[in-house]
Amino acid sequence: MLARPHRRPPILFPVTTPPMPTTPAVTAAVTADPTVVADHGGNLGAARRRFRDAPEPWLDLSTGINPWPYPVPPLAAEVWQRLPDPAAIDGVAAAAARAYGAPGPDHVAVAPGSQALIQWLPRLCSPGRVAVLGPTYAEHAHCWAAAGHRVNLVTDAGTLYHGCWDTVVVANPNNPDGRVIAPDRLIALATGLAAGGGRLVVDEAFADLVPAVSVAAATGQPGLIVLRSFGKVFGLAGLRLGFALAAPDQAHRLREALGPWPVSGPAVAIAGAALADHAWLAETRVRLATAADRLDDLLHARGLAVLGGTPLFRLAATRDAEAVFDHLGRAGILIRRFASHPGWLRFGLPVSDTAWDRLARALPPGVTPWRHDMSHQS
Ligand SMILES: Cc1ncc(COP(=O)(O)O)c(C=O)c1O
Repeated sequence: MLARPHRRPPILFPVTTPPMPTTPAVTAAVTADPTVVADHGGNLGAARRRFRDAPEPWLDLSTGINPWPYPVPPLAAEVWQRLPDPAAIDGVAAAAARAYGAPGPDHVAVAPGSQALIQWLPRLCSPGRVAVLGPTYAEHAHCWAAAGHRVNLVTDAGTLYHGCWDTVVVANPNNPDGRVIAPDRLIALATGLAAGGGRLVVDEAFADLVPAVSVAAATGQPGLIVLRSFGKVFGLAGLRLGFALAAPDQAHRLREALGPWPVSGPAVAIAGAALADHAWLAETRVRLATAADRLDDLLHARGLAVLGGTPLFRLAATRDAEAVFDHLGRAGILIRRFASHPGWLRFGLPVSDTAWDRLARALPPGVTPWRHDMSHQS
């Protein structure tokens, strides 16, 4: 269950609340059920309980985290012992602004992962009507609903432009299917929403590898809030670091909500150099694109249809999704499946020759071919 802050912060991002749009592309409203924990990748504990005889070590392909992490430098003892210096946190904000093309550190809120921002943003907005372009990372709809907003999952991006929304949330590129909305369309959407006092939240957790889709350079435009994740592309998800890029007043309010020392000393010590390391990022882009192509070839050869994804994960479909998931699970390989789309399976990238061999040997040959109508299963 989400812990509510003792003292709710003032309503900081005012909204208007015009009537609900009624359009067929708007799916059922999302309600917050605190007893339901969103399913995420990386749950090896649950996998071990389900597949008790699976061989160790598990090969975890259920997340979209770079398996070739940024090389972490040795850290001085004081990085662990002292509270992070506020000036050093400002330095990370400046490094993030440079890396993402935002105007400056005053447009950045540094957070312990973009998830923290996904949870805070809804609490800083007065209750309103929210459209989440789905299917997508489940935490968006969950967190806006949990904070008292009326949330609808929208499947047709066109609906976002015609509905009367206070907040629109788009993951770009999207997890899990890699759907991309062109930056100019997003900017136009943000402009329209801002005119009515609303906002567009663009989750760019997977944009580092496809920088052309990013709207981060438009940071500062009213109504635009961009979320970036450090952990995915740098392969350091456990460090917990993410950023909001927004107009200075909104970035300031997020910083206030997060309080002093929003991130750890190790995160501060590592982030500055990593964010400025263009050579590493360029190499990483090539390495991940090559691995993603290789994975597509393997999945395709086994009869799975590759629907899309990003260079960090691939989304495939088959009529035999459950059987493939179980088969791999018994072989100690965890992939991601989706309750809302039973034909979908998401694969992260194998990191070593051994991992590739293991996946290739465990993937059953000749799974039942994909049927186009399956992408709409729910
Ligand atoms: C689309 C998307 N956004 C945000 C997050 C949160 O990532 P983090 O909190 O590690 O930055 C995730 C995690 O899987 C994600 O898939």
